[in-house]
Amino acid sequence: MNAVDRRSVLLAGLGVAAGAGVAAGADALGSATATGTTAPNASGDPGAPRGPGASGSPAPKSGGTGAEHRLSLTAAPATVDLGAGVTARTWAFDGRVPAREVRLTAGDTLVAELANRLPGRTGTAVHWHGMAVPNAMDGVPPVTQREVLPGAGFTYRFTAATPGTYFFHPHVGVQLDTGMYAALIVEDPREPMAYDDEWVVVLDDWLDGIKGTPDRMLQALTSGGSGGSGGEETDGDGSGDSGLLRGAGGSVAYPYHLVNGRVPADPDTYAGKPGARVRLRIVNAGSDTAYRVALGGHRLTVTHTDGYPVEHQEADAVLVGMGERYDALVTLGDGVFPLVALAEGKNRTGLALVRTGKGAAPAAGVRPAELNGRVITADLLTAAEDVRLRAAPDDVTHLVRLTGSMDRYDWSINRRRFDMRDPRAAAFTVRRGQRVRLDLKNVSEMFHPMHLHGHTFQLGTSGARKDTVTVLPHRTVTVRLDADNPGDWLLHCHNVYHGEAGMMALLSYVS
Ligand code: C2O
Ligand code: CU
Repeated sequence: MNAVDRRSVLLAGLGVAAGAGVAAGADALGSATATGTTAPNASGDPGAPRGPGASGSPAPKSGGTGAEHRLSLTAAPATVDLGAGVTARTWAFDGRVPAREVRLTAGDTLVAELANRLPGRTGTAVHWHGMAVPNAMDGVPPVTQREVLPGAGFTYRFTAATPGTYFFHPHVGVQLDTGMYAALIVEDPREPMAYDDEWVVVLDDWLDGIKGTPDRMLQALTSGGSGGSGGEETDGDGSGDSGLLRGAGGSVAYPYHLVNGRVPADPDTYAGKPGARVRLRIVNAGSDTAYRVALGGHRLTVTHTDGYPVEHQEADAVLVGMGERYDALVTLGDGVFPLVALAEGKNRTGLALVRTGKGAAPAAGVRPAELNGRVITADLLTAAEDVRLRAAPDDVTHLVRLTGSMDRYDWSINRRRFDMRDPRAAAFTVRRGQRVRLDLKNVSEMFHPMHLHGHTFQLGTSGARKDTVTVLPHRTVTVRLDADNPGDWLLHCHNVYHGEAGMMALLSYVS
């Protein structure tokens, strides 16, 4: 069925006249399939999306290639093999963890059909993390669409304007901590860097089906707190403080840290040739863990973060918060080398291997010296000249205080815990065309990787362009962005448990 047919079915199902406004709204919301439970509702139902992005057609970004990249994603329970005899019952897209990587060329239009086969009344949706999509394609129920209920579907359609390393995941409850995630790579048709190959490295902290479920973990954290009666499910003794994070590394003691869906005892292996220049695309899809990543025997040239180029810097390791991405070039040596993701403050590691020659694989717990060399953090980076924001005065400044504590697990913004049933209460408002300054002021004792949907901000005045920035305890990070993508956009901590506990807010366009 093509888009036009689907829209007629949708309109027929709603029993409304195909007025121009309704038709535009249906376009912007994608196309409902099956039982139509995701259809937009014109009746003023409080669950229905609204706002500038929901009422207009998605404005196509410039420079479309005209090419359409179609894919389907079926969310369903699955038993997945994590290697070394470890299997886990989880939820996954098409039975794989991570889900199949999506690869586009900038200017292509992605058409992704989500089908929900999750159990019971479990709704879901797909969020395209870091992509400046039209608001109605952002995948955040109930703000930008209805939850897609079991048996129903939803079609996401948007043009991938900006090349880079992204990922996608659901944005319902703590579903990020299941197996439903994958890398989304947008290639540059005029790629300025020279390299021979690339390797996508997706990191994830794993508990689902091994140590309860994400929902039970959320319950344990919010009822007992990490220092309370959470018992063996949570790790609140604080013993594993991280110097880089200036405090605790998180509250959840994960049984595994995965690289590309594998446990360290049976690692994913990249096979290449000595001397090859390889672009690493590192994605942290974890929920409560920041990783320090190094490739034993190699130096990294950091080239991008969160999809955007930076002035190149040499490093031994990079610190990757949840939701952050780093690209780095490496020139491969001859032999077998460990790519290690050290779970900051948790004293555990994830592992993958690079093999270009003979040699025995290193032990599963190997910790290459590079982990303790020069570590790149986002604040050390400068945006590449062509992606710097033009100089302009701030039109509006919002103070975003990151509040709450590990014991009470009352994570919040400006002391207010976000309520998904009333998402627009206390929204930070902006107007189209404004230069917006956000002062992210962490007054808590834990780090928070703060992520803004639909936009890329700049750190300071010439720092990296990013969509997710780690804010250390008792520090303030100032970011600036141009308000150029109308809608209601989430601003939240990408620790999924912090976000669900209440560390979220909306950045809303008003006219
Ligand atoms: Cu990875 Cu609100 O997103
Ligand atoms: Cu947080």
